[in-house]
Order: sequence, then C-alpha cells, then structure tokens
Amino acid sequence: MTLIKKVAVIGAGQMGAGIAQVAAATGYNTLLLDNNEDALKRGLAGIDKQLSRAVEKEKITEEDKKKTLANITTTVQVSDCTDCDLIVEAIIENVEIKADLFAKLDVLTPPETILASNTSSISITKIASACSNPNRVIGMHFMNPVPVMKLVEIIRGLQTDDATYEKIKAISEEMGKTTVLAIDSPGFIVNRVLCPMINEAIFLLQQGVAPEDIDTGMKLGTNQPMGPLELADFVGLDTLLYILQLFHRELGEDKYRPCPLLIKYVEAGWYGRKTGKGFYTYE
Ligand code: 3HC
Repeated sequence: MTLIKKVAVIGAGQMGAGIAQVAAATGYNTLLLDNNEDALKRGLAGIDKQLSRAVEKEKITEEDKKKTLANITTTVQVSDCTDCDLIVEAIIENVEIKADLFAKLDVLTPPETILASNTSSISITKIASACSNPNRVIGMHFMNPVPVMKLVEIIRGLQTDDATYEKIKAISEEMGKTTVLAIDSPGFIVNRVLCPMINEAIFLLQQGVAPEDIDTGMKLGTNQPMGPLELADFVGLDTLLYILQLFHRELGEDKYRPCPLLIKYVEAGWYGRKTGKGFYTYE
C-alpha cells in the first residue's frame, strides 16, 4: 500500500519527466501532462532510456521497468487530473503562467488534492494566492537529475497548513528522497547558495582563469561531483541568469549581480548542454 494512489506531473521537460519516473517507480499511478504532444513523447522516451540503462546496469529488473512504464499515462488535458491525490507542477518559471495554472487546478480538483510546485525560485505564497484553498499549496523542489538526486526541498507558503506539509514530507520519503524545510525566499536553500557560487566562478573566468582550472579546483578542492561551470552548463545558463536576476531584484543586494559574461553567453544563445555550447562544447 502506498501513501497515495494517483499523481499528476504537469510539464514533461527534464524535471517533470524525472519526477514522473520516480513517482511511477514508487508505485503511484502517474499521469504525465503537457500541452505539447512532442514534449510528452520526448519525456516518455527519456524515461524509457533511463530505465533501460538501469536494467543494463542490473540496478533494476526488466520486470521493474515494465511496471514503472505501465504506471505512466500521458495527456494534454488539464481536466484529466481531477481525481489525483497530488499534482506536481513542473512548467516554465513564469509567475503569471504558474498562477494561472494553479487557479485552474483549484477549480478542477477537490480540496483534498495537494497542489505542489517544483519551482526553483518563485514565491509559493504568491502561487498559492491564486487559489481559493491556498492551505493545500506547497513547494516540492526536486534536483536535477531527479532519479539520482536524493533531495527534495519543501517550501511552505504563508498559507500552507501543517497537514499538507506532513503529507508531502511523507510522500517525498516514500519516493526515496530526504527532505529539508526551506523558507519561502528566492532560491530557497540550494539555489540561494549554489547560484552565487557559480556566478563567482564565472567572474573568475571573466578575469582570465581557465575553465578547466576553475572546475578541477572546485571538484578536487571541495569534493563536488561537477565543477561550477560544468554544473552551470548542466542546469542551463538561461535558467541560472533568470535565478540571479530574480535574487538581484528581490533580495536587492549587489552581491547577486549576474556576471556580465553570463549575460553575454545567454545573449549568444549559448545555454549549455541543451544547446550544445555553454562554457564547454558538447556533441
Ligand atoms: N537521469 C537519470 N540518471 C542519471 C542521469 C540522468 N540525467 N545522469 C546520470 N545518471 C545516473 C547514471 O545512470 C548513474 O547511475 P548508477 O550510479 O546507478 O550507475 C549515476 O547517475 C552516475 O552517472 P555517471 O556515472 O554517468 O556520471 P557521474 O558519476 O558523473 O554522475 C551526476 C552524474 C549524477 C549528474 C553527477 O555529476 C552529479 O551529481 N552532478 C551534480 C548534480 C547537481 O548538483 N544537481 C543539482 C543541480 S541544481 C538543481 O537541480 C536545482 C535547479 O532548480 C536548478
């Protein structure tokens, strides 16, 4: 018996597909929802590939893979998630678009359904204010790559009630994750510390230090699996810039000023791995 039966994940990008994979592997009936059919196809193909790799490495059996895939269905209709116990939103980082979606979900779902956002930076309090039952809105921030990373940051908005928090903590643990409780302030815990560190590495690059030296220095000097520039390429330079601009604006301190070199890279369309070029070049 699992804690909940049915989960919807909205947004079939890298994060949404990863969350759906983990939810399905936990045994939840998982609905992956995206308004773009191609994104759904890509999301499912990515999950299939990850599971096949896990079978090859003998981490899971072929039977486990089949069961996980059988737990996933896809849809383009938001109205299909009315019978879910939990909905995890993982769409674009845009406060108006998210608020609009939550307002729709608020009307479509019964008050017992928990509405979670995987936002990495937007105020949960603000998203919750779009709902008539804001007590059931919460932040559930997974890390990339979701199937590998052990952490879920939980963020309570001003309106989130204790029952919603306790349930999300228990569900996250059932999904094999460890949780931390963050405050509803830009970047929560992980991005608040991580993004300024990466920004500082980009300032060093701008001053003429070689990227490999920065990354090797941080990898071997602080035991991180990826150096900050490699990680920036992995997260996406556009995402990183968006987060730093938000910190600068909302926290109001110059220490969050995005490095001009980062702005230039984003202007050039060099977003990192997803575009084949960032601080490094990819096949
Ligand atoms: N999806 C699923 N599994 C993946 C994966 C992916 N995209 N990429 C790698 N893996 C798995 C591999 O299958 C392998 O599994 P195994 O140990 O069971 O065989 C394991 O991860 C290790 O992978 P590799 O051996 O290929 O490569 P590495 O040892 O270099 O590990 C990494 C890759 C796990 C990505 C590691 O480099 C890492 O932990 N990097 C840091 C990631 C990180 O900091 N993430 C947080 C980013 S911040 C964030 O997400 C917040 C957001 O809001 C911006």
